[in-house]
Amino acid sequence: MTKKPDKYVKQLKERQKIESDVFDRHALFAISKIMKKGIIDNMDYPVSTGKESIVFKATTASGSIVALKIYKIETSPFLKKLDYMYGDPRFEKIKKSEKEIVLAFTRKEFRNLELCEKAGVHAPKPLFIQDNVLVMQFLGEEGLPYPTLGQTVCEERFLQPILDDIRRMYKAGLVHADLSEYNIMVANDGTPYLIDFGQGVVLAHPKAEEYLERDVRNVLKFFSKFGFKRDEEKELKKIRK
Ligand SMILES: Nc1ncnc2c1ncn2[C@@H]1O[C@H](COP(=O)(O)OP(=O)(O)OP(=O)(O)O)[C@@H](O)[C@H]1O
Ligand SMILES: [Mg+2]
Repeated sequence: MTKKPDKYVKQLKERQKIESDVFDRHALFAISKIMKKGIIDNMDYPVSTGKESIVFKATTASGSIVALKIYKIETSPFLKKLDYMYGDPRFEKIKKSEKEIVLAFTRKEFRNLELCEKAGVHAPKPLFIQDNVLVMQFLGEEGLPYPTLGQTVCEERFLQPILDDIRRMYKAGLVHADLSEYNIMVANDGTPYLIDFGQGVVLAHPKAEEYLERDVRNVLKFFSKFGFKRDEEKELKKIRK
């Protein structure tokens, strides 16, 4: 047998890692159901592989592009995040198995995206949910996702629309609770979109106000590194007004 070049072996190992990471049996089953229901026609390629989830570009039967977020069940770190689940009256009764918890985080993100859509917040439109897989609007162009705020050359004009969206969410009774430059994508025209709503809580959550303060602090801290400074107290007041 000829020896395979190192590069090839490395690529193969990476691919196997992706496959064993993402396609646990729950995900495979959910994806096959989504395909059978005719929601998507093809899984194209992963656009992001993280600890908690993998995001794929996928194509629908009519040829449009969507994003598919697969929450990992078998290697999930969500057990560390139960604070966000149990204080939220919508999700208080979920069982404690790892699978149930991940499924609840998926449902939570979907419900939060629905609230955002109603409230006019810039976030991906939720399209479909099946078990631990979420189908949503693809934020990007020509199959490439927009960069996250942290990956852009930061501009001052990105800040106000983000604060406006935080206010819209708050008025709709929701706090993102995991907002930072990593969970904001910036479209080519400069419009920021908030993403990753699995941790979002309703205002009835006992820590909702604390999470709101942390979200605003994270965003203002990021912009202040580029010299775009705002007063945290003033901005919080405007959001709560
Ligand atoms: N709707 C979308 N359209 C295009 N790309 C997306 C979309 N949602 C997420 N992504 C891409 O996937 C990445 C991860 O998404 P997200 O923040 O929702 O997952 P995550 O739970 O933080 O994953 P992890 O923490 O495991 O990395 C984003 O930074 C972005 O590049
Ligand atoms: Mg994220």
